[in-house]
Amino acid sequence: MDKLFINGTRALRGTVTAHGAKNAVLPIMAACLLSEDTSVIENVPCVTDVITMIEILRRLGVRVLFSGDRLTVTPGQYAGTEASHELVRRMRASICVLGPLLAKQHKAQVSMPGGCVIGVRPIDLHQKGLQALGAAIAIEHGYVIAVAPALHGARVHLGGAFGSSVLATGNVLMAATLAHGTTVIEQAACEPEVTDLADFLAAMGAKISGQGTPVIRVEGVERLHGANFRIIPDRIEAGTLMIAAAITGGDITIEGARADHLGAVIDKLTEAGAAVDASNGSIRVRAAQPLKAVDVTTLPFPGFPTDLQAQMMALMAVSRGVSVLTEKVYPERFMHIAELNRMGAAITREGSSAIIKGVNRLSGAPVAAPDLRASAALILAGLAAEDQTEFVGIEHLERGYQNLEDQLTRLGASIRRAEERGA
Ligand code: EPZ
Repeated sequence: MDKLFINGTRALRGTVTAHGAKNAVLPIMAACLLSEDTSVIENVPCVTDVITMIEILRRLGVRVLFSGDRLTVTPGQYAGTEASHELVRRMRASICVLGPLLAKQHKAQVSMPGGCVIGVRPIDLHQKGLQALGAAIAIEHGYVIAVAPALHGARVHLGGAFGSSVLATGNVLMAATLAHGTTVIEQAACEPEVTDLADFLAAMGAKISGQGTPVIRVEGVERLHGANFRIIPDRIEAGTLMIAAAITGGDITIEGARADHLGAVIDKLTEAGAAVDASNGSIRVRAAQPLKAVDVTTLPFPGFPTDLQAQMMALMAVSRGVSVLTEKVYPERFMHIAELNRMGAAITREGSSAIIKGVNRLSGAPVAAPDLRASAALILAGLAAEDQTEFVGIEHLERGYQNLEDQLTRLGASIRRAEERGA
């Protein structure tokens, strides 16, 4: 695996364009399973999670072409019903084939996702929602085995201990499109990626209203057809770049980033002292170092996204004063604290909160990323740190960021990639 060598303390300046949203395209690829027809999806990011989902679809018997940023998905009369442990282990989002397989093939076997470094990640809400629609679900030999000769509409409440669930909402929404009758999903996730999925399903002929609100209504239809669709920009990639501007005292414009998807992030960066201008389909962030401490709590959308918690913590590590960062979506998502502290940060954990005492400077160090978003946080910390940071964990980064290293380099960062054995 390659390593990255980052030489920090350069202010980043310039313009970059946001790629399509990984977390929107993954369930949309699964939704293609609901029709036999070809769907064409554009603005698809080239990240390894997308490659894994392509492999899942191909093993089910679906034809998939990926060229440039365009995916062409032709399910035809695919016969597969299984997502194996090997694939689900690589990517927990594989669970989002459960709803479409159940609706179209009347059965599904999906390896039960285990916990991971960001937390336990149960699937009780997926089960509850699909059972309400008439599925029989059992866990056997590490697999979720679901059977439903016919699905029917139902009223489903999808609130869990940590709020709504993005992929459980997606699974129930997808299954409901082909169920007999009306489904009402209460405490549905309001994330823009769920809205994008609902909009894609509507383009396939589904009858859906209320997407983007906590109550989604679906009238089941007989069949869905293929659709042409363009994925929304990735708000987490855009937010990561916004924080890169703030942490380096730079000036970055992100073309295509949507302010209506990033309200909580814009609010917190502004409170910290950055100047954020959102106009004409782009977001510009300018900052003079150091920024001020702020308190942030992660919450389901439109709250501050958990997927930017680690990156925000890196910024807080070099902000003036004491910040408190509370994680309300994945209360265990704090593996990056130890690595940031190795770079000279002063962060302690109190239950589901981190207390961050801003320091004047971080210092470059060898760091290892425990997961996808933590990898971005460590790279941002490296951009702010004196001397060299040696970053290991590029396989995590590449699951969700298309060429982040190139984007940052074009903005003036000093990042060199080297093979691990030659480094
Ligand atoms: C999606 O995961 C995202 N993944 C995650 O992004 C993101 O962190 C998460 O939503 C929260 O925004 C994709 O969209 C592919 P959840 P998901 O179900 O849907 C609990 C990234 O870095 N819960 O909304 O799996 C759960 O434990 C990834 O790109 C239950 O209790 O997350 C958590 O505390 C990581 N029971 C909370 O709900 C369930 O059945 C929210 O999780 C399901 C979830």
